[in-house]
Amino acid sequence: MCSVDFTDSSLSLEEQVIADRIEELREQLGDQLLILGHHYQRDSIVMHADFLGDSFMLSQMAAESKAKYIVFCGVHFMAESADILTDDNQMVLMPNIRAGCSMADMADLPDVEACWNELLDTSNLLDPATREDAELPAESGASYLVPVTYMNSSADLKAFVGHHGGIVCTSSNAAGVLEWALERAGENGKVLFFPDQHLGRNTALAMGYNDDDLAVWNPMMESDWESLNAAKFVLWHGYCSVHQRFTVEQINDLREAHPDALVIAHPECDRTVVDAADASGSTEMIRRYVEAAPSGSVVGVGTEIHLVKRLDEQYPDKEVFCLDPGVCPCSTMYMIHPAFLAELLERLADGEVLNQIVVPSQMADDAILALNRMLSIVA
Ligand code: 13P
Ligand code: SF4
Repeated sequence: MCSVDFTDSSLSLEEQVIADRIEELREQLGDQLLILGHHYQRDSIVMHADFLGDSFMLSQMAAESKAKYIVFCGVHFMAESADILTDDNQMVLMPNIRAGCSMADMADLPDVEACWNELLDTSNLLDPATREDAELPAESGASYLVPVTYMNSSADLKAFVGHHGGIVCTSSNAAGVLEWALERAGENGKVLFFPDQHLGRNTALAMGYNDDDLAVWNPMMESDWESLNAAKFVLWHGYCSVHQRFTVEQINDLREAHPDALVIAHPECDRTVVDAADASGSTEMIRRYVEAAPSGSVVGVGTEIHLVKRLDEQYPDKEVFCLDPGVCPCSTMYMIHPAFLAELLERLADGEVLNQIVVPSQMADDAILALNRMLSIVA
């Protein structure tokens, strides 16, 4: 159980001073500034965001924006993607550059390359990079290994995927992305999905595949070649430490106390939780689910506490609970503090750029292929 009260959204006097200063600076910087906020940000950040969304919507916003400075209140992989999707004359900045994602850190390029090479060496699958146009469906009779990375991954992995004819997905369009990848893999081809095993598994099962079609790759463990050879999807072993806290027992407890309760879980949760829930979806889908629930509903949500608490406050005619009574936040999302945002804007107003996220251009050139493919697939 966390000892800090993450659920109190009222501002202290000191926080109000910071909030007022941020608003003055936003006004001063005008149209050249766009502040993007992820749904997991604390309220004292959300109140300053020009746009709040899930990771798909935030990358769409970054790609469409003409602002000179895009301040990303989210985690590092999101800001990297925004930098890749924006022009060279735009800058993406983070209030705190240390805000990463522990799941994204579970797959690095050398390990993914080793897995990729081993899968190609031990099969008759081809690398899509050998094709003239990797964006076309596979030729009849050809079998490819198509890489798919979850948005929650570093830019070098997105570049790897782009280079090898693959695609990025988010939790809102994972099924469409997997269909795209399977078409390019061919009848006997495979998809290598990283880093979140749960999103990969939940999506494939919802598409009608079964356990025999799935195998998990863990670079620290001996490979089970029988299941790897049989699998349609090779799933990296990564997971989110926040979403792995949700359990079926929590859902049962909620339903025992509130038999009519509705339950929605993020697809980063274990499959047992997603199976036991009434619905599953990205953070934006969760927001819409609560919005659409009839007045008087009790809704149990399996995702990060700041979003759940905000929804509970926004819809006073409904009771919105976090499934996990331990209410722990995503500790890295929580590293974006308004004092850092104020400092960043203060310096910008003085002409100084802090915490710019720059993806090297060669990496960006490959990564943008995979990101643009993703943006073309809307949930
Ligand atoms: P969404 O794409 O659903 O916003 O998810 C991002 C994330 O990191 C969830 O843990
Ligand atoms: Fe990463 Fe999990 Fe935090 Fe999402 S909630 S940013 S997956 S650590």
